[in-house]
Amino acid sequence: MKNIVILTGAGISAESGLATFRGPDGLWEGHRVEDVCTPEAYSRDPTLVHQFYDARRAKLGEVEPNAAHLALARLDREWPGELLLVTQNVDDLHERAGSKRLLHMHGELTSGWCLACDERFAWAGPMGELASCPVCQVAGRVRPDIVWFGEMPYDMDRIERALMDCDLFVSIGTSGAVYPAAGFVQTVRYCGARTLEINLEPSQGSIFFDERRYGPAGIEVPKWIEELLG
Ligand code: APR
Repeated sequence: MKNIVILTGAGISAESGLATFRGPDGLWEGHRVEDVCTPEAYSRDPTLVHQFYDARRAKLGEVEPNAAHLALARLDREWPGELLLVTQNVDDLHERAGSKRLLHMHGELTSGWCLACDERFAWAGPMGELASCPVCQVAGRVRPDIVWFGEMPYDMDRIERALMDCDLFVSIGTSGAVYPAAGFVQTVRYCGARTLEINLEPSQGSIFFDERRYGPAGIEVPKWIEELLG
C-alpha cells in the first residue's frame, strides 16, 4: 500500500468549535444554505453573503486545530508514499496543523477573488461589499474565494488523477451529501482501492466503504494513523 487520498469535511473541524452544515433542521447558523452559498444569493443580497463569510472568517481566529488535524499532519510528514489531503472545508485548520499536501476543493475563507481582474489573493479580516482588489485596485468586485453550489470545485483534474492512482481512500467527517466529493468513493472502488470511512455516524455513502469506524474524529483519526504508522 503506497498511495493514499484522504477526503475531509466539516466533521473534522467540529471538535475545534466550527459548526457543521447539515443539522437536523437543515439550517446552518440560522441561514438556509441556498440563501448564502449560491451565486444567485450573492447577486440578490451581497451584504448578507459578505456578513455570513466575514463572521466565519472572524471565527477562525478563535479556534485551533484538533487532534484529528494534527494526526493528519503527522501522516503527511511521515508517509513515504504519495499522499493527497482533499478538504471540502474552507477553514485553515489543516494548514495550521502542518499539512502540506493539501487541496481546498471548495475554496478558502482566507482567500479573495476579484471579479474585475480574475486574480485570487490572500485575505485577512472582513471583506464586505466595498473591498478593493489588492491587484487591480477596483473596489466592490472582490468576493469570497469559496465554491458555491452550482460552481465548479477547484483542482478536479489533480484530484481525479490521485483518486485513480490511490491504494487507500479515507473519508473523514463528511455526510456524503454533496457531489462531486460524495462520488469519490465510487471512483476509487472502480479503480480497485481500499476504502475507509471515519465519521460520527454512517454517511449517505457508507455502504460503499470496505471499513467503517464511527466516533469523534479527534479520537478515531489519531487511532487509525497510529495503527498505520506504528
Ligand atoms: N467527528 C467525526 N464526524 C463528525 C463529527 C466529529 N466530531 N461531528 C460531526 N461529524 C459528521 C456528521 O455526522 C456529518 O456526517 O460530519 C459530517 C458533516 O457533514 P456536513 O455538515 O454535511 O458537512 P460536509 O459533508 O463537509 O458538507 C459538504 O456541503 O454545504 C456544502 O460546501 C459545503 O463543503 C461543504 C459540503
